[in-house]
Amino acid sequence: MRPRTVCDGIQWIGSIDWNRELFDELIPLPDGTSYNAYLVSGSEKTAIIDTVDPEKAPELCAMLDAANVESVDYIVANHAEQDHSGTLPMMMDRYPDAQLVCSAKAKSMLVDLLEVPEERIRTVADGETISLGDLTLEFIYAPWVHWPETMLTYVPERKVLLSCDLFGSHLATSDLFASEPARVYRAAKRYFAEIMMPFRNHIEKHLEKLSKYQIDIIAPSHGPLHDSPDFIMDAYRSWTLDSPSNKVAIPYVSMHGSTSVMVDRLISGLADRGVAAVPHHLSSGDTGRLAMELVDAATVVLGTPTVLAGAHPQVAYAAMLANALRPKLRFASIIGSYGWGGKAVEQLLSLVPNLKVEVLDPVIVKGHPKETDLAAVDALAATIASKHADAGLS
Ligand code: FEO
Repeated sequence: MRPRTVCDGIQWIGSIDWNRELFDELIPLPDGTSYNAYLVSGSEKTAIIDTVDPEKAPELCAMLDAANVESVDYIVANHAEQDHSGTLPMMMDRYPDAQLVCSAKAKSMLVDLLEVPEERIRTVADGETISLGDLTLEFIYAPWVHWPETMLTYVPERKVLLSCDLFGSHLATSDLFASEPARVYRAAKRYFAEIMMPFRNHIEKHLEKLSKYQIDIIAPSHGPLHDSPDFIMDAYRSWTLDSPSNKVAIPYVSMHGSTSVMVDRLISGLADRGVAAVPHHLSSGDTGRLAMELVDAATVVLGTPTVLAGAHPQVAYAAMLANALRPKLRFASIIGSYGWGGKAVEQLLSLVPNLKVEVLDPVIVKGHPKETDLAAVDALAATIASKHADAGLS
């Protein structure tokens, strides 16, 4: 693949990773990803904005060869995480006269993580600019999307925002610009859920700050670019600001069918009362799909059998994940079964201190659920529907 034109003076020189299946050894990537680096060529100076994952360094070099980039004045590191910064040492060797430009906080991180030579780093303040001649780089601090040092780079003459992880998606596509709205929306929502959701309050402030900029193109560091920026800006506003939906996420495991019967009954009870239910069998392994449902669910109901006196480990993991992601949940409960005893409820509740939820009475049954047990599940469905209605969510 050759460099691709974003607009006059800005080229995409990144790498598409079609086959990567896991990020941070944690996040499933069902659609691969990309590492977007950009070449900004002003009338007097040249800058590279972010680099690529070290595994893709040869592709970045091939891009720079194809673009005939013989010298570079600035290499901007918007973010110190290695999928964008890991190739910086190689790039600094390749362009020995280039300055590495980053936020004050990123400086020590880049030195610690990559042993970048400190004397070649130029830190920039929030709002500071660097002139490339007829193009300007303006740096916009955006901490906590999703690391504390992150900044964005804006090119005012082209109204292009190089937004690093913010507004990104783990989506490998040969489209430079987002052209399949439903597919991109889903990938961006998954990305938001897994990476950005814990920082909703910060993102709210960043959206407010960005509303003062004229933006024609958003060029993130993962996934396709946005030449209709309202599409992704509106989605972020909805995910960060809107009330949750009239929806219940039900992550669960069932070892011998008892919990599964209860989950089925809960789904029916919720659907009959006009509440959307989204079960997620945790054995599928795709916790990203669960994270995505938590973006706008109002309630989570964990379904667990009892294993060695506690919750099933996969359900405990789901609880820990929900706790870490800090979704907009209002209510939570637990359903499940046990053979001869256990502390699954106490254990799961102890794993979610970050969730500011009202806990609705759990339904834990002995053995296979009987009619009275299923009636208790029906009552839980009725309580959830009533709580949602009272909260104005239905
Ligand atoms: Fe894509 Fe936070 O790195």
